[in-house]
Amino acid sequence: MTARRTLSYSEVEAVYDRIGAWQDTQVFYEAPAFDLLVSRGHFETARSVMEVGCGTGRFAERLLSTHCPSAARYVGHDLSETMVRIARTRLASFETRATVRRTDGRLSFDAPDGRYDRVVATYLLDLLSRDDARTFLGEAHRLLRDDGRLCLAGLTRGRSLLPWCVSRLWNALHRSRPEWVGGCRPLRQRTLLDEARWAVQTHATVTGWGVPSEVLVATPA
Ligand SMILES: C[S@@+](CC[C@H](N)C(=O)[O-])C[C@H]1O[C@@H](n2cnc3c(N)ncnc32)[C@H](O)[C@@H]1O
Repeated sequence: MTARRTLSYSEVEAVYDRIGAWQDTQVFYEAPAFDLLVSRGHFETARSVMEVGCGTGRFAERLLSTHCPSAARYVGHDLSETMVRIARTRLASFETRATVRRTDGRLSFDAPDGRYDRVVATYLLDLLSRDDARTFLGEAHRLLRDDGRLCLAGLTRGRSLLPWCVSRLWNALHRSRPEWVGGCRPLRQRTLLDEARWAVQTHATVTGWGVPSEVLVATPA
């Protein structure tokens, strides 16, 4: 991760309050990453799922309606009031199975060690500062059960021509106008993982409409 400026919590909040439901239009390039995350995350055995940066709750709805056991519980966190409102409305039919909490942006969570089977973050690490990303990964490690899974997806750098050009362009935009790209920049999430503490189960790059995404599933080592 570069040490370049990332958006402050209040800037992120303002950007995502403004984007709101438009976030779902990003599915055109995110879909291949979500599909791979679902297939490698083994959500069919997940009884408790925590997501950070849940946005509109789209991925949570998919997990709860299609992939998780019917008794599974979900807790989502987001710092944008608008996103929290949209996600709560979207997940209302799951009643007590789904909770969405608004946070102040800090990546420490008030839950006991080993509380969750899955910790999920999609297109979140690519907008966090290096310190916040490491804090999040430390918390994910603490919060997961021994056989739990960390499930990540995010923008990355492309290798073949079109994805390489797209990620270069995206990176340049982030450098000059980070708010235009939702604060997100192409990132190699794996470089942030302490592989003495995590066993990587899946690590792949997928491309949707020329935009490359990194998918990473890991268990506490
Ligand atoms: C790029 S969007 C991704 C939303 C969703 N995960 C998806 O893949 O469509 C990033 C989301 O993370 C939230 N977010 C950003 N920084 C956060 C933080 N420090 N704590 C909690 N949520 C955060 C934003 O408000 C936004 O909803």
